Amino acid sequence: MIRKDINNIEAYKPGKPIQEVERELGLKNVIKLASNENALGPSLLALKAIKKGLEGIFRYPEGTCFYLKKKLARCLKVSESNLIFGNGSDELLDIILKTLWEPGAEVLTSDITFVEYKICGTINGFVVNCVPLKDFKFDLAAIKDAITPKTKVLFIANPNNPTGTYVNQREVIDFLASVPENILVVFDEAYIEYAEAKDFPDLVPLIGKKNIAILRTFSKIYGLAGLRIGYMIAEKSFVECAERVRQPFNVNSLAQIAAEAALGDKAYVRKTLKLMRQEKKFLYRTFASLGIWFKESATNFIFVRMDTDTRKVFGQLLSKGVIIREMSQYGLNNYARITVGTRKENLRLIKALKEATE
Ligand SMILES: Cc1ncc(COP(=O)(O)O)c(C=O)c1O
Repeated sequence: MIRKDINNIEAYKPGKPIQEVERELGLKNVIKLASNENALGPSLLALKAIKKGLEGIFRYPEGTCFYLKKKLARCLKVSESNLIFGNGSDELLDIILKTLWEPGAEVLTSDITFVEYKICGTINGFVVNCVPLKDFKFDLAAIKDAITPKTKVLFIANPNNPTGTYVNQREVIDFLASVPENILVVFDEAYIEYAEAKDFPDLVPLIGKKNIAILRTFSKIYGLAGLRIGYMIAEKSFVECAERVRQPFNVNSLAQIAAEAALGDKAYVRKTLKLMRQEKKFLYRTFASLGIWFKESATNFIFVRMDTDTRKVFGQLLSKGVIIREMSQYGLNNYARITVGTRKENLRLIKALKEATE
């Protein structure tokens, strides 16, 4: 009875939840450096707003995220008609694909990137084609060459997950000039707030001028992964169509309230960035001294390579209460992705790593 393409999908493997590891291994104080969440926990302003909003949870939420949309449109200097919200940016991938599907349509992306593009594309009936990264970066020239008459959507994670690399403004502008107008280029900017390089692309001004859509999330720097809320910035007519596909109450009321508060918590974002700058430097230095290869990251996680099979290292670290992400799902058995934590967490990571690799 099951669709063949669904039978062949490998389900998304999330980072192991802390409670599950504590339960299974009988450990306490487990730390999770596996899902790129904000090391500082949630914004206190968001928590306060949630507490205030609790009494309203017997009502259905506003489907359009009315107040949040107004605030976000002001922050981004776009029209409200360019914005649509999702139950995490994950849901927006699904909405985009549902909005665009036609028989034989193809998705094109890279082989080592956020796996949901592949999973969601397949579930929605697309043929999914992938090209290799180049030096762990999206290879835009190879993507351009792999476009076929059936290609309908391109997914570019910028910065990329799991490698932490980015394509710059110049590269993106040149690339867009060479992509046929009938293809939607989706830039998934889940980690954009961490990408502080001057040449990191600013694509919002291209909305309505180029056939692009931008995905962002409140799960990463805004610290609201558990509430599930993300958004898309796109051309008005595409947003209107996506609105028809969206479930009526897809974003819960507490997520809307919390996102509005977190968006206004500039001090929290600044503090997170400062911590990440400092801790990335610390981890780069320490990895280098341990002989662990790494790629400099434009995000809050670091892609590393070790001399041993990282599935083994993952298990050893887990037994010491430190959860990281090994990369065997990409066939990269010597690689891992490690979320940058607080100094205390990073010291525990290093100690466990030293013991595991000795
Ligand atoms: C590149 C990328 N896009 C999207 C997401 C999903 O974000 P959300 O929590 O908003 O669904 C993630 C989360 O890991 C990600 O790494």
